[in-house]
Amino acid sequence: ANENTVLFTIFGGTGDLAKRKLYPSLFRLFKKGNLGTHFAVIGTARREWSDEYYRDIVRETIQDLNPTNEEAEDFSSHFYYQSHNVNDSEHYDTLKNLADKLDEQYNLNGNRLYYLAMAPQFFGTIVSHLKSQKIITDNGFNRLVIEKPFGSDYQSAYELNQQIRLAFPEQDIFRIDHYLGKEMIQNISAIRFANNIFESQWNNRYIDNVQITFAENLGVEDRGGYYEHSGALKDMVQNHILQVVSLLAMEPPVAFSEKEIRTEKVKALNAIRVYDEKEALNNFVRGQYGGGQLDNQTYIDYRHEENVSESSETETFVAGKFMIDNFRWSGVPFYVRTGKRLTEKGTRINIVFKQVPVNVFKPSIEGTCENSDLPPNVLTIYIQPTEGFSMTLNGKEVGQGFNTLPVKLDFRHSAETVSNSPEAYEKLILDALNGDGTNFSHWDEVAQSWHLVDVIRSSWDKTTPDFPNYAAGTMGPKAAFDLLERDGFQWIWEPDVWYRERG
Ligand code: BG6
Repeated sequence: ANENTVLFTIFGGTGDLAKRKLYPSLFRLFKKGNLGTHFAVIGTARREWSDEYYRDIVRETIQDLNPTNEEAEDFSSHFYYQSHNVNDSEHYDTLKNLADKLDEQYNLNGNRLYYLAMAPQFFGTIVSHLKSQKIITDNGFNRLVIEKPFGSDYQSAYELNQQIRLAFPEQDIFRIDHYLGKEMIQNISAIRFANNIFESQWNNRYIDNVQITFAENLGVEDRGGYYEHSGALKDMVQNHILQVVSLLAMEPPVAFSEKEIRTEKVKALNAIRVYDEKEALNNFVRGQYGGGQLDNQTYIDYRHEENVSESSETETFVAGKFMIDNFRWSGVPFYVRTGKRLTEKGTRINIVFKQVPVNVFKPSIEGTCENSDLPPNVLTIYIQPTEGFSMTLNGKEVGQGFNTLPVKLDFRHSAETVSNSPEAYEKLILDALNGDGTNFSHWDEVAQSWHLVDVIRSSWDKTTPDFPNYAAGTMGPKAAFDLLERDGFQWIWEPDVWYRERG
């Protein structure tokens, strides 16, 4: 592995994301040799912590990775803590002093990666201060990794972007969408562009519809404060789901490079129909979970969750239909849905192919077939919890007579392969260290996603929902099923038996 030379400054160093994702990912990189002697981490947050206390916490967060004592000691010795008020210029001077000191101590060549893992209202001010207080060096690389949400609508995203661009050029801004670090999201391009069998069929002549489901069985947990202002549309559709739509819909890039892929993704996003408010209401539905039963447990309704208003109109579920107005996709609906407290955790994409032109197996007087059903061929891409893909075909039932039978070619990785593969955050941090922005959201993509989502939001703001409208432990409100039914389709969804049986 290539050893990287870098100083990380993590804003939000005491927070949940840092503890759950960042420190374990850094440790995995450390173990693999991507980080060695020439790296240091400054964690900052409001709390007053000592370096010793901070290192204890860091060591706790990597316990599940079974480090030896020596590894844990060595790794955590690179961590330094600086208590910090993000609005106070003087604090940035202290931060600069520490950064410069560590730069010298560890020979870091001025390479800096700033990670904003905290409440989005502080993004702008932090970045401005990094520049005004000259924390940004002029000898090494200076890169900004920024968590979602990137704005709360197009206008706020635009303003935030303007502010950030005063300090960092676009190629040094790494807007995280952790779905882009997931193995099977990255695999979409391999499935499409390494297999002629699929790419030749990947258009409106052969594909009937595309179905994207991001289901979660968890509720809002302890994030009510954030989620109340966000809702499922902004939390999942604006970023993760539209990114996936663009990867599925884009033209083959001229080369598999950051620039070429980006060009095609942006073109695909720009071809998605921007609805007017009436169309938005017609093509997008929202839901909020009520109480219900799931796996023998009883769950409360969203409105009684912590930090949630008792009359909340926040949606915990969205389903909708995107149309892509270009030669390849005209007429093919891309149905999307996501929600909390659904039947199971399952992220999947179904590519549903058109039926054969004529069903010659239909029972007739001369014929010998008894069944007439030919379900469509479906390519399913399993993103999580199982990873892999399957293809359903129709074959002949073994034996006398001639009946057709659906069969499934199922290729999925074992649970062991999956748990040993790098985590999304690990991959993305390494990409940022390598200056590779392929798996991050470019401003043009973010801007267009907000345009698409803003109309849906404003159409909802003008109408009153009848919440709660689905029970915890179901796959969402009836309206989400009607959405496909009126087009003559239905959601294809089977419980992930593979997961349940093989664990
Ligand atoms: C986050 C959302 O971006 O993605 C959460 O803010 C959601 O609400 C999460 O639970 C899902 O991510 P994953 O990787 O667990 O599927």
